[in-house]
Amino acid sequence: MMSLLLPDASATDALGAALARTRPARAVVHLHGDLGAGKSTLARALLRALGVSGAIRSPTYTLVERYPLPDGGEAWHLDLYRIADAGELEFLGLDGDEPTLWLVEWPERGAGALPKADLVVELAIEGSGRRAGLVPGTPAGEGWVRTLSAEHGVAGHS
Ligand SMILES: Nc1ncnc2c1ncn2[C@@H]1O[C@H](COP(=O)(O)OP(=O)(O)O)[C@@H](O)[C@H]1O
Ligand SMILES: [Mg+2]
Repeated sequence: MMSLLLPDASATDALGAALARTRPARAVVHLHGDLGAGKSTLARALLRALGVSGAIRSPTYTLVERYPLPDGGEAWHLDLYRIADAGELEFLGLDGDEPTLWLVEWPERGAGALPKADLVVELAIEGSGRRAGLVPGTPAGEGWVRTLSAEHGVAGHS
């Protein structure tokens, strides 16, 4: 578990960029945290850093927004806040094209219908900033967190 203090939104952006830079070829990321904790900010920063240049809309109503990535593959950004039960996610993956990157807000609401997280990011409000806990769920996630903690580019490492 790696814990980072993110004093302002630009620190959340920097974490998103660092995650993009160090990500494994395929990754499932679960984003935990209350409303306003910074889940969408982090997802958006990650997508931007991966080269997504168009609009990045919140998937609050669509459940999923898909982004082709410039270096190949696809990122899927999900927000499951509004689903009633995980059965609503049966369509995911049915067409055969699995994303290379999953970014899932409110993954607890899709329990059973989502792939296992390589990385769980736990965001919480702390003072006027945020705290991010990075918890690996697989060997790929462990390598990711190790690479990230060895980096100097991550602001506020504490
Ligand atoms: N590290 C931070 N410190 C202070 N404010 C932040 C930080 N990260 C994000 N925010 C702000 O928190 C607000 C809510 O963020 P958002 O990403 O929409 O939360 P969520 O998706 O978890 O509901 C936004 O105004 C964003 O700019
Ligand atoms: Mg959000």
